[in-house]
Amino acid sequence: MARVRTGSVAALLPAAGSGTRLGRGPKAFVEVAGASLLARSVACLAPLVDEVIVALPEGLALPGGLPARAVPGGPTRQESVRRLLEATGAGVVLVHDAARPFLPSRVVREVAAAAREVGAATAALPVADTLVRAGEGGGWGGLVPREGLWAVQTPQGFRRDTLAHAHERALAEGFTATDDAGLVARLGGEVALVPGDARLFKVTTPGDLALAHAVALLWDAGGDDA
Ligand code: C5P
Repeated sequence: MARVRTGSVAALLPAAGSGTRLGRGPKAFVEVAGASLLARSVACLAPLVDEVIVALPEGLALPGGLPARAVPGGPTRQESVRRLLEATGAGVVLVHDAARPFLPSRVVREVAAAAREVGAATAALPVADTLVRAGEGGGWGGLVPREGLWAVQTPQGFRRDTLAHAHERALAEGFTATDDAGLVARLGGEVALVPGDARLFKVTTPGDLALAHAVALLWDAGGDDA
């Protein structure tokens, strides 16, 4: 582990995904309006934290000029984050998917503050759509009440020790989650919900990429206030 600097904040970006559903090669390197998803995510975080560390796909280097350093990613997102955690001694870490390139500074600040106070926090949005579970034939199975349901985004912030402990336990017990706050919550740890932002959607499918191109026009003209 790197030298411990308890007062500092590190942004950890898992960016080692293959981007299979998008079909355009490693997703973090896909460009939207002239800048890669990775470059956009780094640019949102770098001015607000002490260091940015990126987990990259095997064999790929960090593009020149990015204010970040890189570590090799793992075969799963969870393993990529575990490796990122080992690379920092910062007291607070913000884990952010490189695939969410439009990150308002308000969200970064609020997640970091809540992480310091509570130990763990995540950006999330109350679910607006009606929710339904598919039946066995693939049709309408039944309504799922949406009251009290939130869709989880990133960044997710943690006291470093809280997240490191949760990852150690998950690894030892062979447990895998799609995010990091889930690893803390399964151990009974409190996770604060911080209002996220609609622009924080994850670019996963070709449809998301088309949406990202539209958002980039506004974002690049007005940043957080777009
Ligand atoms: O695949 P998914 O969209 O859920 O990935 C979320 C984030 O985790 C992406 O930014 C992706 O690059 C990253 N990831 C990773 N290592 C993996 C798989 C995904 O860093 N092995």
